[in-house]
Amino acid sequence: MSWSPKQRELFDAWHDPGVDVILASGPVQTGKTVGQVGAALSWMAAEHSGEDFILGSRSQRQLMGSVVKYAGRAARAMGTEFVRTSSGWSMESTCGPPNNFIPLYGADAGSADKARSFSAVGALLDEMTLLPPDFTDSVADRLSQDGAKLGGAMNPGPPLHPVRARWWPLAQDPDSGVRWIDFALSDNPGLSDRFIAQLEDRYVGAMKQRMVYGEWAAGEAEIWAERRSSPAPPAWDVVGHILGVDWGHATSTHAVLIAITADGRYWCCDEWEWTGRARGPLDETIQAHKIAKWVAGRPLRRCWVDPSATGLGTALAQVLACDVLAADNNVGDGIQYVRWLFSRGRLHVDEDACPILWGQCDNYHNNPDKLKIGIEEPLKDGNDHGPDGLRYALWSEAGRGRSHRIYRRRPAA
Ligand SMILES: Nc1ncnc2c1ncn2[C@@H]1O[C@H](COP(=O)(O)OP(=O)(O)OP(=O)(O)O)[C@@H](O)[C@H]1O
Ligand SMILES: [Mg+2]
Repeated sequence: MSWSPKQRELFDAWHDPGVDVILASGPVQTGKTVGQVGAALSWMAAEHSGEDFILGSRSQRQLMGSVVKYAGRAARAMGTEFVRTSSGWSMESTCGPPNNFIPLYGADAGSADKARSFSAVGALLDEMTLLPPDFTDSVADRLSQDGAKLGGAMNPGPPLHPVRARWWPLAQDPDSGVRWIDFALSDNPGLSDRFIAQLEDRYVGAMKQRMVYGEWAAGEAEIWAERRSSPAPPAWDVVGHILGVDWGHATSTHAVLIAITADGRYWCCDEWEWTGRARGPLDETIQAHKIAKWVAGRPLRRCWVDPSATGLGTALAQVLACDVLAADNNVGDGIQYVRWLFSRGRLHVDEDACPILWGQCDNYHNNPDKLKIGIEEPLKDGNDHGPDGLRYALWSEAGRGRSHRIYRRRPAA
């Protein structure tokens, strides 16, 4: 593989004894991760032996899917192997016994504490803007010994994101030991015009500025500014329905019924809500029966249930004649996907049929205090159960190939 000029800057920084933090940020698919992995491995092989190096990402899936895959390739290009061990991986060094590479996952509970227990000569954190800030800080703070290095690859986030707030100002001083290397789409000559056009179509708003143009764009306070209301289509245009259910025992349970038309558009055409606070709590079995009664006569393809509501999932599986599955609760990606559907006219809410959901979409905002510190997180004010149900159904439906906990699978006809 011939490295791009930006990737060569990464190699230079890792091998520069005066540099201890090397960060790469930019749009998707620009070669940041593969460059960082190649550079970090070549530095470990040349400078260290018998030492530990941390490989961190959001989840095991993320780490395996890019960092470890690229590490295998980089090792082979160096004439060696990236070998699985009981604690992670190992790779030969040119100056002594092999080095160890230890995985750490930011999304795991207690991962920040775990990071604190390591003593490593280096760390590479992928998807750094998506890692919990205390996890990143724990890893960075472990690298205090002389000559230790921290590397990171990331897509830009909000301008006040803690990673940028901590290292960007330092990187402006050439003697600080912090190198910040900005990648652009043109840094990966392998990206076709068609791919770039598809990318431009895939993102909306601040996410487009970040993922396509590499800018640290501020997140919008309003989450679904592109929301659309229009009357649900007539029954003969509807080819099926899906249901998204967010569960609350003492708060509220909100079920959103979504009609799918032959041209692949989604219409929120009815809703069911039980407010435990106002009407008294109802157990899962009774809620499931009420939902089944409400939805009767409208054939369902699938029902996606709040993944934390195992009891309700099990109860719904008893009473609904369709597949009942635990939804995928990736808040950030789910919100973006719903926003994209709204912006492309592929999702509509019938506000007369779903007044509570529509009101909650109007009110759906990022937490202003968190936004100030660069974190985008919906405000938890008790009015987000409808948007959660909507997101569960649509985002899970989009990723149907992924494994989901199954409560009920309808027998094949
Ligand atoms: N120098 C190179 N030569 C050949 N292929 C490359 C090179 N650099 C990157 N690629 C390829 O481009 C693709 C994107 O690389 P990589 O995953 O490192 O991008 P990224 O910037 O980390 O993207 P993301 O922001 O989506 O994580 C991969 O398929 C990778 O193999
Ligand atoms: Mg990457």
